[in-house]
Amino acid sequence: MSNLEQTLSIIKPDAVERNLIEEIKSIFTKNNLVIKEDKKIHITKEEAAEFYKVHQTKPFYDDLCSYLSSGPIVVMILEGQNAVLFNRELMGATDPKKAKENTIRKLYGISIDKNSVHGSDSVDNAKKEIKFFFKN
Ligand code: CMP
Repeated sequence: MSNLEQTLSIIKPDAVERNLIEEIKSIFTKNNLVIKEDKKIHITKEEAAEFYKVHQTKPFYDDLCSYLSSGPIVVMILEGQNAVLFNRELMGATDPKKAKENTIRKLYGISIDKNSVHGSDSVDNAKKEIKFFFKN
């Protein structure tokens, strides 16, 4: 059965800094996720805090917001079959040390903070996160 979804993907500062944008985009497109929109932006710490609000009670929240706003990022809308879950499979576990072989975080992640990519964790959050970066 067809289940076309959209999800939000972010290429984080550590990966942008290491010129991994095209490599990471090609992993998505080779796996039949279509990049519907993409833009390179540099957000403020306040915007990062708003984006990661669900994590506001976590001990790593402040560092996380500083990090996401520390340099340019690429935000993308990915579209494809079961895109939310499928993108999370392509990314691998949050901690690159625990990620499976050939996942993006295993290939490129440096640490649990500098883990190269973000992806929405549910269809509902995907809608919210897409709206956050692509308002119209
Ligand atoms: P991301 O998928 O962008 O969502 C929240 C981020 O918090 C996560 O990736 C990690 O990069 C970061 N993070 C830092 N420390 C932790 C931790 N202990 N557990 C989970 N996420 C963490």
